[in-house]
Amino acid sequence: MATLAIEGGSRIVPEGMVQSWPPLNQADRDAVLAVFDSGHLHGTSAPKALELQEKWAQYVGTKYALVTNSGTASLHMGVAAAGIGPGDEVITSAFTYWSTAAAILHHNAIPVFVDIDPKTYTMDPALIEERVNEHTKAILPVHIHGMVADMDPIKAIAKKHNLLIIEDACQAHGATYKGVKTGALGDIGCFSCNRSKNLSGGEGGLWTTDNEEYLAKAAKLREFGEVVPAAGAGAREYNAYGLGWMYRPHEFINAFILSQLERLDYNNSQRREFAAYLTRELADIPGFEGPYTPEYANPCYFSYVVSFKPEQLGLDLTPEQWKKAVQKVLAAEGIGLGQWQTRPVPSQDVFSDRVGYGKGCPWTCPFGRGDVDYSKESYPLTEQFIASHAYLGGVYPPNTMELMKLYIDGFRKVSENAEMVVELAG
Ligand SMILES: Cc1ncc(COP(=O)(O)O)c(C=O)c1O
Repeated sequence: MATLAIEGGSRIVPEGMVQSWPPLNQADRDAVLAVFDSGHLHGTSAPKALELQEKWAQYVGTKYALVTNSGTASLHMGVAAAGIGPGDEVITSAFTYWSTAAAILHHNAIPVFVDIDPKTYTMDPALIEERVNEHTKAILPVHIHGMVADMDPIKAIAKKHNLLIIEDACQAHGATYKGVKTGALGDIGCFSCNRSKNLSGGEGGLWTTDNEEYLAKAAKLREFGEVVPAAGAGAREYNAYGLGWMYRPHEFINAFILSQLERLDYNNSQRREFAAYLTRELADIPGFEGPYTPEYANPCYFSYVVSFKPEQLGLDLTPEQWKKAVQKVLAAEGIGLGQWQTRPVPSQDVFSDRVGYGKGCPWTCPFGRGDVDYSKESYPLTEQFIASHAYLGGVYPPNTMELMKLYIDGFRKVSENAEMVVELAG
């Protein structure tokens, strides 16, 4: 049996082998540098902004797209464009990044959470309807870790109760549900292009819709609440029609995202190939399991999540204890297992303390109700999922299958040395 690196054996993944995301090439560098010489550094009607909007709408399959400066900005634009305001409620997933909920709070509306289906880690459609009341205006499904939410039952509930659907597709560029891309599955789609995302611009965001009215509202919110005409298309009115923010991206970012977009499908196909291999191999290694993929989904594997199964090894440990032991031992082997989220979003202090804007707002807003349930007990499956899973770093290009094979060697080594792992990590 090979000696574990933590005990002085040689590590499986050589130092420096795991490369960071996103993969960069000369085309990316040329695209960004060309902006310097273009004479256009900013503006929502600058050439790269317009080109990216057109290409992203075409890629997703919607009529319109807008460039923004973050996923959070896109989500806030989505909430505002949907006409959601003080006291209104939006139902979303307890397992997400908190900015999904922040975007709802930013418009003085109230996030209401549902627990997840642990198999797909997305919101459980069976739990949505009991949360709908006269204040509910929209459902905000989150396509998490590159997995799409189960949209058909969500759409049926939205239709029955006359609710809009705003997708948080920040982690799911190019993922599909029954062949339709995220961003085209609801009324409004919101994407992040921050450094880690499948379509990366370092920072940035994208926003999609088929609806002209939502488009016009979102565009105003993006730039101060004003209508800012394209250069040469008439004088700016300098009149705010309502509240607005500054959610405009830089042309460097638009150019960078456009260049990365050329390789999005290729990069996603690499992620899928790596994920398929890892899941197949992990199925034969006691103690671990790869992600489940429902028939309706073609995920884009923003993160490759591993499930920890100590019972398969006859260990008297919780999945979380087993996970922590493995994380420590695999780190010494050069294999990174990260933790994304440490608690359900409704269990964060902002909800338990209801700090919001201070003085209880927006929960004390006279238009709505303040007694929304954020208790820990209401989201047990999200808690369990967080405790029993971790994501495996580096499951993307420019890393190669060679690295994935070493990862599998690492999991096998740990599984074969399970008792020792527990002892060492203890
Ligand atoms: C699910 C989800 N929603 C929203 C966001 C916010 O995106 P950004 O960081 O671009 O504001 C993120 C980013 O990490 C995310 O993962």
